[in-house]
Amino acid sequence: MVWRVLLGTFSLVVTMIVLGYVAVTEQDRMASFERAYTSRQIETGAALYESNCASCHGTRGEGGIGPALSTIDLFNGQRLKEIGWQGTLDAFLRGAINAGRPRASAAFANSLQRMPAWGQQYGGPLRPDQVEALVLFIQNWGEQYKDASGRIPSATPTPNPNAAGTDITIELPPGDAARGATLVAACQACHVAGANVLGPAWESAKSADGKNVAQHAAERIKDPGYTGKATTVEQYLFESIVNPNVYITPPGQGATWQPGGPSSMPMNYGETLLKQDMADIIAYLLTIP
Ligand code: HEC
Ligand code: HEC
Repeated sequence: MVWRVLLGTFSLVVTMIVLGYVAVTEQDRMASFERAYTSRQIETGAALYESNCASCHGTRGEGGIGPALSTIDLFNGQRLKEIGWQGTLDAFLRGAINAGRPRASAAFANSLQRMPAWGQQYGGPLRPDQVEALVLFIQNWGEQYKDASGRIPSATPTPNPNAAGTDITIELPPGDAARGATLVAACQACHVAGANVLGPAWESAKSADGKNVAQHAAERIKDPGYTGKATTVEQYLFESIVNPNVYITPPGQGATWQPGGPSSMPMNYGETLLKQDMADIIAYLLTIP
C-alpha cells in the first residue's frame, strides 16, 4: 500500500516536472519555429527577387532602372515622407509590389520605365504569399541599419554607383543601340512625335536644316556660344541629357520650344538613367539618319 502511494506521488512529481519544462520552453520553441518560418520566407523572397526584380532594382537592391530598395532612406521613413505615404512601410511595399506604383518616388517621376503590377489581383503573375515573401525579403535589408535600441537613424542614402550621374567625362560601357531605341520611348513625347514642337527633332528628315542629332551635336560644340564641357559628339549628347541647361539648343529649325531656355527637359536623368542606359541611348542617337 505504502509503495503504491510512493509510486503515485513519484509519477505525479515527474509529470509535473515534464509539464513545467514544456510550459517554460514552449514560447522559445514557438519563437524559433517562427524564426525558421520567416527565414524560409525570406529565402523564397530572395529567389523571387532574383528572377523578377533584380533586373530593375539591382541584385543587392542598390537600384537601377527602379529606385534602390536596400538603402537606409527606405527604412527610416525619409522616402515615405517624400512620397507622401502616411501608412506603414509594410503596407507601402505590399501595395507597390501588388499594384505597381501609381505615385512614383520623386527621383523616378521621369523614369523611362514604370514599375509593373505583380499581384494576381492586379493582373500580375505573383500569388499573395509570394508578394508577402518579397515584402519580408525587402524588410530584411532594413535590419542592418537598426541601432542597439532597434531604431533606424536618419541618414542620407549613398547615391546609386551605377547611375549615369552628371560627369560627362566618365567612361561609359559599350552601348547597345537596339536597347537604346526602346529606352527613348519616353523622350519621344517631346522629341519625335511632336517633331520640333516640344524639343528639337533628332532626324534629319524632320529637322528644318536637314541635319540629324549627331550632326547638330558636332556643330554645337564648335559654336562660340557653347559653354559646356563636351569635346566629343558623345559627350555633348550625354551633357544634353543630364545637364540640359548648359547649352540651350537654339530655336530656328521651325521649333517652337522656349527660345533662350531654361530647358523643359527633365532635370534628373543623371539619377534615373544608369551608365548602361546612357551608353545605349547615345549609341542609338548616333544611328539616327
Ligand atoms: C521594369 C523594371 C522594374 C521591375 C522588373 C520591377 N520594378 Fe519595382 N519599380 C520600378 C520603377 C521604375 C519604380 C519607381 C516608381 C514607379 O514606377 O512609379 C519601382 C518602384 C518600386 C517600389 C517602390 C519604391 C519607391 O521608392 O518608389 C518597390 C517596393 C518595388 N518597385 C519593388 C519591386 C519588386 C519587389 C519587384 C519584383 C517583383 C520589382 N519592383 C520589379 C521598376 C521595376
Ligand atoms: C519634356 C520634353 C522633353 C523630354 C521628355 C526630353 N527632352 Fe530632350 N530636349 C527638350 C528640349 C526643349 C530641348 C531643347 C532645349 C535644350 O537644349 O535643352 C531638348 C534637347 C535635347 C538634346 C540636344 C539636341 C540638340 O540638337 O542640341 C538632346 C540630345 C536631347 N534633348 C535628348 C533627350 C533624351 C535622350 C531624352 C530622353 C531620355 C530627352 N531628350 C527627353 C525636351 C525634352
